[in-house]
Amino acid sequence: MAGKMEDIVSLCKRRGFIWQGSDVYGGMAGTWDYGPLGVALKRRIMNTWWNYWVESRDDMYGVDAAIIMNPKTWEASGHTATFADPLVECGECHGRFRADKLVEGANESISTEEFKSHNVKCPTCGKVNWSDIRKFNMMFQTHVGPVDDDSSIAYLRPETAQGIFTNYKNVVDTIYPDLPFGLAQQGKAFRNEISPRDFVLRDRECEQMEIEYFIDPSTWEENFKMLHEQYHKFLTEEMGLDAEKIHDFEVAPEDRAHYSKHTIDIMFDYPNGQEELMGLAYRTDFDLGNIQKASNKSMEYIPKGGGDRFVPHVIEPSIGVERLLLAVLSCAYREEEKDGKKRTILALPEHLAPYRFCVSPLLKNKPELVAKAREVYDLLRKKYGNVTWDDSGNIGKRYLKQDEIGTPKCVVVDFDSLEDDSVTIRDRDTTEQVRVKIAEL
Ligand code: GAP
Repeated sequence: MAGKMEDIVSLCKRRGFIWQGSDVYGGMAGTWDYGPLGVALKRRIMNTWWNYWVESRDDMYGVDAAIIMNPKTWEASGHTATFADPLVECGECHGRFRADKLVEGANESISTEEFKSHNVKCPTCGKVNWSDIRKFNMMFQTHVGPVDDDSSIAYLRPETAQGIFTNYKNVVDTIYPDLPFGLAQQGKAFRNEISPRDFVLRDRECEQMEIEYFIDPSTWEENFKMLHEQYHKFLTEEMGLDAEKIHDFEVAPEDRAHYSKHTIDIMFDYPNGQEELMGLAYRTDFDLGNIQKASNKSMEYIPKGGGDRFVPHVIEPSIGVERLLLAVLSCAYREEEKDGKKRTILALPEHLAPYRFCVSPLLKNKPELVAKAREVYDLLRKKYGNVTWDDSGNIGKRYLKQDEIGTPKCVVVDFDSLEDDSVTIRDRDTTEQVRVKIAEL
């Protein structure tokens, strides 16, 4: 049986994957903290992404830009003027909501007239007394330096993409890659979401993994197709997502972001319904063109084989780590009942599991078993790194705990191990147990 959202949230909390941010002070809406298992899973997802998209390709390079950027960045990118959501306020309880999220099928360009025609009740107090819609800019504003006036305003970046665009020239001037080439970045992005919701799906502080793929504009369709196909492969083969839960959604021109000429959102069937997992956008030369104008520096690329210089166009695949992590968790989570015994399994792909092995002595109070099990533990730790030790409770309870946190294999040292240097390995998914020589682990 697949898991409901509350089952996944409960497991994440109970086992130390994810907690509400600032939990001890009553929380901070839209922020999440990762515990020992959560950070291990998150890092593995991010490292797998980096390895797949950057390190194993000849046409991709990494950058890591500052979060606080010169505010001119957000003028040139259009975020200061247009990165806004439609906000309505209830005249009775003063609750504030995103208008498009209160009307089924609506999008961000919903008008006040259309919103009011639906007679939506306030989700908090149930009354119908709405303000007009006003645009609410989602960028977090701060002041840089000791002076607190308009000249010191800066923003926490709302997307990692601009840290790539602003370094495009540095990369071309230093390593001069062949076109097409991609620049990739992972990092935090901040959005003052009106209604953060659905666990980690819509956060105020999230982490993005973005690629800006610089191309000759005449090749945009083939490069869009290439990245689109490869992303489907990545999501299913590397992240273990069920293909039937992934859907392409072609975004209508009036719903596209201000910079995009063609967008496909890749949607995912989360436990609470279908939501955007990631986007693939043809950003044309919108960003480099604007940076060129605003900075007075040429963003043109000089073709290596000769020909006219030009400002490259861009295809952008952009994915949020939290949305990917939640998709991975919801595909991995299942509950099973066998011979009247229930168990919860997190059937994570082995390369994403927080621990690859759990090592235990059969009995905790037999020093010779503990010593042998420690030997095996040290050996596996040296070889694989992410190995855990568990000698709590009885062996059955240990298995159940490891199933729930996604450990693919449990290694148990028993009295025979002392004689024949072999151990029992129990498989998370099948529960089958096999005997293996320690040297073959
Ligand atoms: N650079 C393009 C860009 O930022 P976006 O559609 O606004 O485009 C890209 O965001 C991806 O980032 C989304 O598909 C989603 O995976 C993730 N994302 C965006 N806002 C988010 C939020 N508030 N919480 C969690 N993830 C978010």
